[in-house]
Amino acid sequence: EWTMAEFRAAKIADIRKQVGKGRVICGLSGGVDSAVAAVLIHEAIGEQLTCVFVDHGLMRSGEADQVVSLFRNSYNIPLVHVNAEATFLAGLAGVTEPEKKRKFIGAAFIDLFEAEAKKVGGADFLAQGTLYPDVIESVSFTGGPSVTIKSHHNVGGLPERMNMQLVEPLRELFKDEVRALGRELGLPEAFVGRHPFPGPGLAIRIPGEVTKERCDILRKADSIYLEEIRTAGLYDAIWQAFAVLLPVRSVGVMGDGRTYDNVLALRAVTSTDGMTAQAFEFPGGFLARVSTRIVNEVRGINRVTYDYTSKPPGTIEWE
Ligand code: XMP
Repeated sequence: EWTMAEFRAAKIADIRKQVGKGRVICGLSGGVDSAVAAVLIHEAIGEQLTCVFVDHGLMRSGEADQVVSLFRNSYNIPLVHVNAEATFLAGLAGVTEPEKKRKFIGAAFIDLFEAEAKKVGGADFLAQGTLYPDVIESVSFTGGPSVTIKSHHNVGGLPERMNMQLVEPLRELFKDEVRALGRELGLPEAFVGRHPFPGPGLAIRIPGEVTKERCDILRKADSIYLEEIRTAGLYDAIWQAFAVLLPVRSVGVMGDGRTYDNVLALRAVTSTDGMTAQAFEFPGGFLARVSTRIVNEVRGINRVTYDYTSKPPGTIEWE
């Protein structure tokens, strides 16, 4: 039995021992895992660490800014922020098949990351926020869908290509332990307690073609949904909640006019590890309130549905 304070001290010693005077590069995804790994490694080796945040423009409202300000302002950790929205949107134009989206995003991410790594003079080590379930999943499900689950965190192939060794200080931890370590390191609660967010971001929450316009519509609806969840005090009771912008239009009526607009699906699940999940049962009136707000406030959406599917047989994400 160890405490988080002991774990932190032990890992810092391990990292120093592994890295020596070498240089480490860490790709931030915007999620909790890579952020905790980066802050821990920075504590161990300071300026030997460079963090790179490849921002694909497929994040939720305000998320990219949160990451950048956490690192630059709260921790004073230098961060290379690559704004690659245009590159990602251009590459996603015309792509509708889910696996093609994922593959393009994974590959573009690695290319951009590699280019930035070269600009800062390369590195001897690549840091990743790999968790214990990631280690298990990739062993037991090789070839299955969970190979792509880590497509964003795990910059596959890059360590060999750039002749780097991996630094993975969170490999023994589960998600709740990473959150505890994040708290131990002083990360803000709002960041540590955040719901998981997939590497490919909103691209896999927009079935069909991803466009800037559709990303903006989804971001607006999603932020209303999450705002209501927080206001109702339900955020921490839910593993993940998000909206999906469907490639379906439906007829509606607004004022004296007919509308013909997008349909939005809301999803919220409970889970302990993301491997299985159940639809969250909202208290009466909640979904009606969210639905009314979204249809009234978000141009382009005139109908809202709730996804009740469990995992299995559904997955948490739609793509
Ligand atoms: P599924 O949809 O497979 O998702 O039930 C299980 C959990 O994994 C997240 N997820 C991803 N995370 N890169 C990630 O970093 C991905 O490509 C990816 N795909 C799914 C999903 O949000 C859920 O928490």
